[in-house]
Amino acid sequence: MSVSIKSEREIELMREAGRILAQVHEELGRILKPGISTMDIDRTGERLIRGFGCIPSFKNYNGYPASICVSVNDEVVHGIPNKHRILREGDIVSLDAGVIYNGYHSDAARTHAIGKISPEAQQLIQVTRECFFEGIKYAKKGYHLNDISSAIQAYAEHFGYGVVRDLVGHGVGKALHEDPEVPNFAQKRKGIRLCPGMTLAIEPMINMGRADVVWLNDDWTVVTDDGSLSAHYENTILITEGEPEILSLL
Ligand code: MF3
Ligand code: CO
Repeated sequence: MSVSIKSEREIELMREAGRILAQVHEELGRILKPGISTMDIDRTGERLIRGFGCIPSFKNYNGYPASICVSVNDEVVHGIPNKHRILREGDIVSLDAGVIYNGYHSDAARTHAIGKISPEAQQLIQVTRECFFEGIKYAKKGYHLNDISSAIQAYAEHFGYGVVRDLVGHGVGKALHEDPEVPNFAQKRKGIRLCPGMTLAIEPMINMGRADVVWLNDDWTVVTDDGSLSAHYENTILITEGEPEILSLL
């Protein structure tokens, strides 16, 4: 395993990749409403990303057929956009996107409500976001990777939620997926010591019910085994000498 330390020049490019992706997510959040298809979201997302002069990093990644992963309700991640999949009032939808700007990647996800949703679903979305912020309390020089992982797990499980084990966060930079893996649950080992210049995608995937997930026959879509709702929140962050910088948030 080798964890890259980004130079000041690389960090500047990743900041821009992050800023652009944050704007893409803001714009996508605004088009969501009952009646649009998950394909509509992908089309708009790809147009926005290319409009910023970036490349959608997910497109054709290991054969993934779209630019935005759109995962509805019990879909955890990697939902494939489909023009026949229409969003309805009460749904929750996770949007995951990645861009490449001048050779550098950013990766971020948000979960949104479609119209009015149940208080339980609202809490799941909010707690999943809070899991990220619990985790990055430890995304600082001197802490270990497992400090982030443990904090995310403890926070989610306090609410009785299931923390997905089969998918993890990751280093990000010249490639979408770099070392190290960033699990959302405690490890037996402390993991690497965090150093300034490391860039990580921290991405809690949290189920309202059990943690178990299954893969659908489309080879991509990951759903909860028990059919419960799932939420996803992700940002690309930079470890610094002090507080972490969240690159994919405005
Ligand atoms: N954002 C996802 C991740 O963090 C990547 C999506 S996989 C793809 O790993 F195939 F859709 F690109
Ligand atoms: Co990611």
